[in-house]
Order: sequence, then C-alpha cells, then structure tokens
Amino acid sequence: MIAVGSDHAAFQLKKAILEHLEKNGVPCVDCGTYTLESCDYPVYAKEVCGKVLSGECDLGILVCGTGIGMSIVANKHKGIRAAVCGDTFSAKFTRKHNDANVLCIGERVTGTGLALEIVDTFLANDFEGGRHQRRVDMYE
Ligand code: RB5
Repeated sequence: MIAVGSDHAAFQLKKAILEHLEKNGVPCVDCGTYTLESCDYPVYAKEVCGKVLSGECDLGILVCGTGIGMSIVANKHKGIRAAVCGDTFSAKFTRKHNDANVLCIGERVTGTGLALEIVDTFLANDFEGGRHQRRVDMYE
C-alpha cells in the first residue's frame, strides 16, 4: 500500500500519480489535499509519514511545489527517509542505497511524464542492504 499526499501546489500531480498507480494495480491511499484551495504542506507530510511509520503503508509519495518542503518535514520523523528526486537515477539509488521510504517530487519542477517514471522507478527498486545497512543505521 502506497500513501500519497500533496498540497495545493501539486494537487494535479497527485491526481496523475494516483490515476497511474490505480491503472497499474498498485494499491494506494489518497491522504489529501482534496482541493486546489491553498493549504499547509506539513499537514499532509505528517499524514503520509504516519501511515508509513505505523506499517499501514509500505512507502509514501509526497508532492508539493518543489518537493523540498515536504521532504524537510518528512525527514523530521524518526524512521522516515525522504528523498526529493527529479530523475530516475536518483529514484533508483535512493531505494537501493538509502532505503528511502518516502519519495518527494515538485510539480513546479518536474513534468508529469518524468514524475510518473520516477514513481515507477522508486517503487520497482529495493534496498540492497549489506554495507548500505550499516550506513543507514548511522542516520539516527
Ligand atoms: C506552496 O506555495 C509551496 O511553498 C509548497 O508547495 C512547496 O513548494 C514548499 O516547499
């Protein structure tokens, strides 16, 4: 199960991601926002991170204007490793090497087509463990 959240600035990208995941049979939960009305992205970052930390969701996707605000808030949560990605190489290796469990993308930065490829790449890759586990253990 994938938790997906956005603020107003990335409402359209969240919609595209949810439609894409649903079309591909990936179970997901829409954590809001649900309208284009201006809102505060930390609310949705906390909602998605809570679902990942509780185990209700395996991974999270957070989108805002830049992806940066969401990532800053998400990384305040112990056990959350959030990565802003604007390319598929980063999306692949943040799973393999950082065990990132939340992907952040900026709607105002990254086009929808690339964003969906970034999502697919993030979900298709797993943590490699080994020497990377030792390093990830040093994060907290
Ligand atoms: C909202 O205007 C914008 O600040 C937000 O979406 C995000 O980019 C913050 O990092």
